[in-house]
Amino acid sequence: MNNNPLLSGLEFTKETGSFSLVIFGVTGDLTRRKLIPALFNLFIEGRINQFKIIGFARRTWTDETFRDEGRKMLSGGKFDSISSDKKEAFLSRLEYISSNFEDPKGYKELLNKINGFGGTLYYLSTPPTSYEAIIENLGKNGLANPDTAYARIIIEKPFGRDLATAKKLNTHLSTYFEEKQIYRIDHYLGKETVQNLLIFRFGNSIFEPLWNNKHIDHIQITVSEGIGVGTRANYFEKSGILRDMVQNHIFQLLTLIAMEPPADLNPDSIRDEKVKVLRSLKPITSKEVGQYTRRAQYNRGIVEGEEVKSYKEEEGVDPKSLTETYVALKVFIENWRWAGVPIYIRTGKRLSRKLTEISIHFKNPPHQIFPNSHPSLNANTLILHIQPEEGITFNINAKIPGLSTSMRRVNMDFAYGNAFGEQTPEAYQRLLLDAITGDPSLYTRRDEIETSWSYITRIINGWINENPPMYSYRSGSAGPEESNDLMEKGKWRRL
Ligand code: BG6
Repeated sequence: MNNNPLLSGLEFTKETGSFSLVIFGVTGDLTRRKLIPALFNLFIEGRINQFKIIGFARRTWTDETFRDEGRKMLSGGKFDSISSDKKEAFLSRLEYISSNFEDPKGYKELLNKINGFGGTLYYLSTPPTSYEAIIENLGKNGLANPDTAYARIIIEKPFGRDLATAKKLNTHLSTYFEEKQIYRIDHYLGKETVQNLLIFRFGNSIFEPLWNNKHIDHIQITVSEGIGVGTRANYFEKSGILRDMVQNHIFQLLTLIAMEPPADLNPDSIRDEKVKVLRSLKPITSKEVGQYTRRAQYNRGIVEGEEVKSYKEEEGVDPKSLTETYVALKVFIENWRWAGVPIYIRTGKRLSRKLTEISIHFKNPPHQIFPNSHPSLNANTLILHIQPEEGITFNINAKIPGLSTSMRRVNMDFAYGNAFGEQTPEAYQRLLLDAITGDPSLYTRRDEIETSWSYITRIINGWINENPPMYSYRSGSAGPEESNDLMEKGKWRRL
């Protein structure tokens, strides 16, 4: 446990008990990059003790191969300082089943391994095309209700590719599992700064009275990335950034920023409020996609000093591709609090840098008494930095020292690193721990996912029906020029 007094508020208090975590598609990238490091962190922090991690995949690995691979995953970086005894103690918990996802034999073997041992969690980390077979086989082979304390199923994104496929997957899941057993993961909800949005809004009394259309002019949500499509063209070509980032991650940010205070912290109280926001979104009809949306693809350019290809030149991308790598939206929430407040959303690959932030732009003072000052100087802005910097900045106006009455914007800053030290848990660490302890607050409920897909599917259909322009932007820039005219007042914050 950490003795740093600055970190005292960060302690988890959850009891985990013994459990088996079964990772379907364990040979994939997510296990190496996120799951094993997160589980190992939980282990060295003493939060999990009695557990098995059972890999399930097609490759003909054995327990030993899985452990050898695990050893590689725990070498380098911050894990180098951890003793090999500790690592071996963790690796001894790794087991492997080699089976294809349709073969009942693999599931029988799994049942033998988990029965009688604490609780069970199934983590679906396979391409979504395998979800149906895995869910059905878990159900038909007695694994949805095994002889264990509980059985929960965690499902990675993409959860469907439109409203119809999301509903189909939900219906299929509900044939074998109850809703309380289903954990739909969105890793943005595991980020500390995202969770802090609730504390910031409802743990302080000074912001909430201003948090409405009387005081707020508009809101901007930016999720920009420097990386391109990389090796994921196969997935991304069929997805596009609207599905990849907006339907899930950005809508999570939007709902947390816009929701009403929940009655309490029960998982369903929070999720009820989030769903209400999604239900209040003003749909963008086919005829309106040209007015409220901008889509674009990256051209060649320079990102972080490196020359990079255009999207159409990336390996695995159709040279005639119509998949968007950037999207900007103007969104309205039709309720008492937010009527008339535009919320501008933008996200893209190959932009100038990685940045996730939400900015709240307040209205100008009702009357201007200072002559000769630039009017835009007077609009206060609150910026919630999600990543890579984590913190909050409040822009206010201050008098420039001197004999004239002129003013300038200054910042009041809160940086997570300074206040609490460097150590914030990884998103997957928090989310896995919550699933193990049975707390679904940070997981997406069925109606939440379907309501957000319903909104996004309309836009996708609008794009198909109306075929608005596919703009382009230089890699390393702030996105297409054409997204500027989405805003009738204000402008995008500098990237
Ligand atoms: C994933 C998307 O869900 O989130 C990726 O599929 C994206 O395309 C990633 O790069 C961004 O996550 P983060 O945590 O780096 O902001």
